[in-house]
Amino acid sequence: MSPLDSLLTCLRFASVSTDSAHAGEVRACADWLASFLRESGLATTIHPTAGHPIVVARNTHRAGRPTVLLYGHYDVQPADPLALWHSPPFEPRIENGILYARGATDNKGQLMAHANGLRQTMTAHGDLPVNLIALFEGEEEIGSPNLGPFLQSHRESLACDVIAISDTGMVAPGVPTFTYGLRGITCCEIEVTGPATDLHSGIFGGAVANPATELARLIAQLHDSEGRIRIDGFYDAVRPLEAWEREAWARLPLDDPEILRLTGSPALHGEAGFSSLERLWGRPTAEVNGLGGGYQGEGSKTVLPSRAFAKFSFRLVPDQNPDDLLPRIEAWLQHHLPATVKVTVHPGHSGQPYAMDPHSRFGRAAQAALRDTFNGRDPALIREGGSIPIVRSFKDILGADTLLLGLALPDCQAHAPNENFPLANFEAGQQLNRHLLEHLAAA
Ligand code: BES
Ligand code: ZN
Repeated sequence: MSPLDSLLTCLRFASVSTDSAHAGEVRACADWLASFLRESGLATTIHPTAGHPIVVARNTHRAGRPTVLLYGHYDVQPADPLALWHSPPFEPRIENGILYARGATDNKGQLMAHANGLRQTMTAHGDLPVNLIALFEGEEEIGSPNLGPFLQSHRESLACDVIAISDTGMVAPGVPTFTYGLRGITCCEIEVTGPATDLHSGIFGGAVANPATELARLIAQLHDSEGRIRIDGFYDAVRPLEAWEREAWARLPLDDPEILRLTGSPALHGEAGFSSLERLWGRPTAEVNGLGGGYQGEGSKTVLPSRAFAKFSFRLVPDQNPDDLLPRIEAWLQHHLPATVKVTVHPGHSGQPYAMDPHSRFGRAAQAALRDTFNGRDPALIREGGSIPIVRSFKDILGADTLLLGLALPDCQAHAPNENFPLANFEAGQQLNRHLLEHLAAA
C-alpha cells in the first residue's frame, strides 16, 4: 500500500470521538492503524479504555539510545455543517495536489506521515535509530479523558526521554515551524432559566425576565472596553511575554492582512496593547462557542423562552491553571445574573497550558530536523493558540518535554468544512520523521 493509499484508507473511517453513534468507526480506525504499525515491523497493542482505544507500537529497545515517544490522535471533530462541504468529508478527494477530508490535517495526515516515515525506515534498515514508542489515541478532540490515567498506570513502560507530536501549525507554506508553547483550556456551559415553561410574550412579556436577554447581558459584560476579561483574578498568573518572542513574532510572515484574509472577518479585534499574534499565542481569551434559547424555526413565534444556554471556552496561557480558574469563572457567572433568573454552570473539560525551552538539547535537534526537511530554512519559533491538553500530562507524569513539529497550514480549515492537507506536506512529514529520529539519536 502506498503512503497516500494508507492515508486515504485512514481518512475513510468516520472516527468522530464526541459522538457515541460513531464509536464503531473509531474502534475500526484503531484496529486498522494497529495492523498498519504491526505490518511495519513494530510490536503493537490496542489498549481498550472506558472510551476509545489507545494504540501503542514499539521497536525493540536497546540500551544507549534515547527513547522517543511519538504521539498523535486518530479521532476527528464532527464534520458538521455537512452542507458546506464541497465533497463528502469521509470520502477523501484530491484536487490540485490538496487532499480534502475531515482529519486531513488534524490529525490523520500528520499522524500517517509519521507512521509512513517509520515504515520506510523499518523496511530499509529493519530498525529505527532510536527506541520508539508510538502512542496514538482516539480521544484528543474530547480532551483525552482516558489518556492521563493510562499514562499514570503505564508510567514505566512509557518512560521516555522526549515526546514528538505533529499536530500544530506552520506559519506559512514551506516555513518550518517549531512550537514551544500551547494555550490551555477550560470549558463550561451555562443554563439560564426563568419561567417554568415558555410563555406568551404578549401576555407575560414586560413583567417576567427573559432568560435570553439576561444571558446576552451577561455575555456582554464578560470583556471590558479594552478587550480584557473582567473575571476577578483572571490575569493573576499570566506570564508576561518576553521581549525576544515579541520581536521574533513581529517578523513572521503572518501579519494582520494575512489573518484577515485567512479568517474572512471584516476587521480584527482583541485586547488592547497586543499584536494579533500575541493575542493568539500569548494571551488568554473567553469565547462563546454556542448560544441558544427560544424559537429557532422559520418565521416568528412570540414566545418568552423559559431557558437559554451558552457554551464557553477559556483559552489559558502559562502559568494559568484551569483548576484555579474554573471556580472563579463559575462564581463570576453566578454573581452577574440578576435574581430574576436562575443559573446553573456545568463544567466541561480542561487542559493545562504548556511551555518549554526551544533551545534545549532535543529542541535544537528537532529544529535541525525541520531545517533538513524544508530546504535548509531556519524554523520559525512560535507558540500556538490551540490546545493539546495531554502535553502537560506528558511533562507531569512522564517528566519529558514535547517537541511540537506542526505541518498544518493556516488555511487547513481544521474543525471546519473542507478541511485539507497538501500532499507536499504529507511528503514533508514522512521526511521529517526520518530526519527527526536521526537527529534525536545524535542529540
Ligand atoms: N491539533 C489541535 C490543536 C492545535 C490546533 C494546536 C492549532 C495548535 C494549533 C487539536 O487537535 C485540537 O483541536 N485540540 C482541541 C483540544 C480541546 C478539544 C481540549 C482544541 O484546541 O480545541
Ligand atoms: Zn483538533
